[in-house]
Amino acid sequence: MKKIYITRKLPAEIIDKLSKQFKITMWEEENIPVSREVLLNEIKDVEGLFCMLTDSIDKEVLDQAQKLKVISTLAVGYNNIDIKKAKNRGITVTNTPGVLTETTADLTFALLMATARRVVEASDFLRSGEWGAWSPMELTGQDIYGATIGIVGMGRIGEALVRRAKGFDMKVLYHNRTRKPEKEAEFGVQYAELKELLQQSDYVCLLLPYSPEVHYLIGKEELSLMKKTAILINTARGGIVNEDALYHALKNREIWAAGLDVFEQEPIPLDHPLLTLPNVVTLPHIGSASVKTRMTMAHLVADNIINVLNGEEPITPVKL
Ligand code: DGY
Repeated sequence: MKKIYITRKLPAEIIDKLSKQFKITMWEEENIPVSREVLLNEIKDVEGLFCMLTDSIDKEVLDQAQKLKVISTLAVGYNNIDIKKAKNRGITVTNTPGVLTETTADLTFALLMATARRVVEASDFLRSGEWGAWSPMELTGQDIYGATIGIVGMGRIGEALVRRAKGFDMKVLYHNRTRKPEKEAEFGVQYAELKELLQQSDYVCLLLPYSPEVHYLIGKEELSLMKKTAILINTARGGIVNEDALYHALKNREIWAAGLDVFEQEPIPLDHPLLTLPNVVTLPHIGSASVKTRMTMAHLVADNIINVLNGEEPITPVKL
């Protein structure tokens, strides 16, 4: 029987599916990532790896993985995996595109709305007994309906966000590595250079994949181009934003607020300066976290492993 290693405790349904064909070893913790030492040891002897975005599958890990045929990650983003090295070694890498699109777009729009209308702050305000009386300008936020949204990264999730924005009669600008004229016609969205998008948008939503080329794409200079009333939403990857620059822009009210589901370091340290600001809504990387979507993702990861280890084509391979 071929062997696979699973780097986090998974629902029984997924284990049952995989254990019909493979010998499984699993890290038994739900909320703690596998330790490096255990991963380096377990990887030596397995043909398949079911991993998480919290696992760094780098050169050191791949050098130990002498039998490995497939790395299947429970995420659409795969910046934690050394894809080139895996490819050179003939290892197939798969991810979970498509199945989390709508759920992640839902969360992105929810975060945008929560940040714009100060939902978390307002709830805390009530619970801490600060609600004295209804007051004309208390907890006033920014309008969403009819505002301009700038989407950086017009992939599947970007498109799904456009559909939500259109329901709110928003003007949509987008910036992407390659311009997409067919989408402009289909959705009535307008391409903009990054600078122009930052200057004109009321909401800047980051939905691009992380790579070293986009590290700190949004820094001091970019934030200074945004409107004072603008809101930054990041549900992509933390490394796209320079958090130090963001902290200062928010603290000095150079931009109005930020909604963040992702951070440079996850979990974000509790003494991080961003967590001291009232105009930041923070979430623990839950973009795709609906029961149905996470189960669909887990099945897709399992099916990719099954296919590759049975000599069939993977369903959703990462292409270099
Ligand atoms: C992904 O899939 O890359 C998200 O960040 C987590 O679901």
